[in-house]
Amino acid sequence: DNKMIKLHEAFSDQFLIGAAVNAKTLKTQRELLIRHFNSLTAENEMKFERLHPAEDRYTFEEADRLIAFAKENNMGVRGHTLVWHNQTPSWMFEDASGGAVNRETLLSRMKDHIETVVSRYKGTIYGWDVVNEAVADSGNELLRSSKWLDIAGEDFIAKAFEYAHAADPAAILFYNDYNESAPEKREKIYALVKSLKEKDVPIHGVGLQAHWNLEHPSIDDIRQAIERYASLGMMLHITELDVSVFNHEDRRTDLLAPTAELMERQAERYRQFFELFRAYSEHITSVTFWGAADDYTWLDNFPVYGRKNWPFLFDQEHQPKQAFWDVVKFA
Ligand code: G3I
Repeated sequence: DNKMIKLHEAFSDQFLIGAAVNAKTLKTQRELLIRHFNSLTAENEMKFERLHPAEDRYTFEEADRLIAFAKENNMGVRGHTLVWHNQTPSWMFEDASGGAVNRETLLSRMKDHIETVVSRYKGTIYGWDVVNEAVADSGNELLRSSKWLDIAGEDFIAKAFEYAHAADPAAILFYNDYNESAPEKREKIYALVKSLKEKDVPIHGVGLQAHWNLEHPSIDDIRQAIERYASLGMMLHITELDVSVFNHEDRRTDLLAPTAELMERQAERYRQFFELFRAYSEHITSVTFWGAADDYTWLDNFPVYGRKNWPFLFDQEHQPKQAFWDVVKFA
C-alpha cells in the first residue's frame, strides 16, 4: 500500500530527506511534505534580499512561518544562504552617495547580517549554506568575479564562516555549489575547501547541489566528487537534487507531457543516484530535493521561460512516480 511507505522512513538509517519549499508550496504541497520529508530548505525566503531588503530593515515573517511549520512537523531545517552573488540587494555594496562601499564597510555589513540571521535561528536551523557558488565554472580563476570578491577580496569567504560560527557554534557550516561533479570545477571546490581547512576556518561540510539530468553528470564523476570532498574530512549534503528531463543544450519546447520512456530513464538515474548515496551514507547525512513534486519546479522557468519540466519523485498530483518506487525498493 503506497500510503504506508514514507520516503524519509525508507532512509531513516542513512540520511535526512529534504525538500526546498516556498511560501506557496508550503500550502499546496503540505500533506506531501509532512508525509515524505523530514528536512526543509527555503527556496528563496532566507536569501539576503528577502531577509534584509534595506540596511536598517529585516523581514523575517516568511522565514519564521517555514520554521514554525518545520517545528510542528518535527523536521530539520537547512539554512540557505548567507553569502551569494545573486539575490543580494544593491544597497549592500553602495555607500550613502551611491558609490561603491569600501572593504571594511562591506565586511561589517556582512557580519551584521550573518550575526542577526544565524543567532535568530540558533538551535533551530542546524546547518547553513554559508557561502554559495563562489567558485568559477571554468577558466583559470579559482573564484567567480562578484562584488563580494571585487570589494572585500577573497577572504570574504573565510570571514563569512567565522561570523556564522561565532553566532552559532553548534551549527554545521557548508560551502555549497553546482556543477560540483564536473572534474574541472570539482578540483577548484576541493582547492578552496582545502585552503579554508588549512587556515582553521570553521567549515564542516560541502553541499553538492546536484542539479542533474538524464545524461549528466556520469555516475563515475559523481562518485569521484563525493570521494574527493569526503577526503577532506567534510560532511556531505546533497542540497538541491532534481533530474531535468532535458539535457543542457536542449531548448525544445514541444514536450507537453513526459513520455513513458523519459520517466523510465529518469527512474533509472534516480535508482543509481540513491544507490551511490547509500554507499556513501557514512559521509552523506542529508539528501534534499529542490522542490517536492512535479507541479512546481524552478526548472519550469530555466533555461527556457515557461517550459514545463518533471524532475521529482512525485508527479503533478503528488502521486509517486516510477522513480519513487525504484528508489525506495532498495532503501
Ligand atoms: O517574486 C517575483 C515576482 O514578484 C515576479 O513577478 C516574478 C517575475 O519574474 O519574479 C519573482 O521572483 C523570482 C523568484 O525566483 C521567486 O519566484 C525571480 O524572478 C527568480 O529569479 C527567482 O529564482 C530563484 C533563483 O534561485 C534565483 O537565482 C528560484 O526560485 C530558486 O529556485 C533558485 O534557487 C537556486 C539556489 O538558491 C542556488 N542554487 C541554484 C538554484 C536554482 O537556480
